Amino acid sequence: MRPMLEAEALTKRFGPTVAVSDAGFAIRPGAITGLLGPDGAGKSTILRLFLGLVHPTSGFALVDGRPIHEWTAPSRKVGAVLDIDAFHPSRRAIDSVRWAARLAGVPSSRARSLLDQVGLGAVAAQRTRTFSAGMRQRLALAVALVGDPEILLLDEPMNGLDPAEIAWLKDLLRRLRDQGRTVLVTSHLLAELEDLVDDLVVISRGRIIGSGSAAAFVDRFQPETISVLSDQPQPLGAAVIEAGGEIVGTQGQRMEISGLTSIQLGRIARVAGIALLGLTEERGLTRAFSGAAATMTEFTREFG
Ligand SMILES: Nc1ncnc2c1ncn2[C@@H]1O[C@H](COP(=O)(O)OP(=O)(O)OP(=O)(O)O)[C@@H](O)[C@H]1O
Ligand SMILES: [Mg+2]
Repeated sequence: MRPMLEAEALTKRFGPTVAVSDAGFAIRPGAITGLLGPDGAGKSTILRLFLGLVHPTSGFALVDGRPIHEWTAPSRKVGAVLDIDAFHPSRRAIDSVRWAARLAGVPSSRARSLLDQVGLGAVAAQRTRTFSAGMRQRLALAVALVGDPEILLLDEPMNGLDPAEIAWLKDLLRRLRDQGRTVLVTSHLLAELEDLVDDLVVISRGRIIGSGSAAAFVDRFQPETISVLSDQPQPLGAAVIEAGGEIVGTQGQRMEISGLTSIQLGRIARVAGIALLGLTEERGLTRAFSGAAATMTEFTREFG
């Protein structure tokens, strides 16, 4: 299948800084792909290269087989959310969408249904200075969708959102994917992507250190057992069993668990409001990382 986004020997330098170094990966159509990496890894630069906002020092960033500027109607090809703070505070939400539609050369009559689609229909006439981060993210998504694009690029879309907004966003992205669109989402948190993405591209210090299906990635790094320390072992044990995990041994506050990844376990503990005092995996991942704390910095220390 022909990739919708492709990096070929892609390098971008900013003076002495190598933001992206000889990157090669292909993103398949009709899937949600996570571009995962720690702060400063080069994620935003890669999105900007695909969008033609910065030019490669060498190599290619191809959108459906060509550099974006070769498409005559780029906004029908790709929509993006890079920055949710770019809205004029005294402009009404609907006017921001209409304005984006005019820029994209599409009928501004779409603005209303786009706002409905992102759940902002009721506040369409409100000025965006009153909008929360979640509402600005929704508005930015409406703007990104004005051209009915085949591809959606989102830079850290879950930043600053509360859990309900994250759930809503993931649901919308799945629906857009199910319509056949290609979605690329950046994140520095593996946990944030785990129940969303079909594929992963992992980047560290400008270099692609792995890519492939998310399921294969989890299988590869899933340990045999996880050893976890908690001062509430009973409720944690109950939550683990409810989530389909198995308790293979207990000793005081320490529990051996199988059938779950450390990321799943971290999330289960967070949802149950139980602190994990320690977490060790018996195979593969030796360094503990749990739920929200599973940053790629820790990941790349192990595998990068
Ligand atoms: N316009 C620029 N001028 C100079 N350096 C830049 C520029 N844009 C990015 N960089 C540098 O390139 C590197 C990659 O930055 P980039 O913003 O792509 O990383 P990122 O993975 O998106 O990080 P974050 O998680 O912090 O958003 C960093 O060292 C950054 O400082
Ligand atoms: Mg960034």
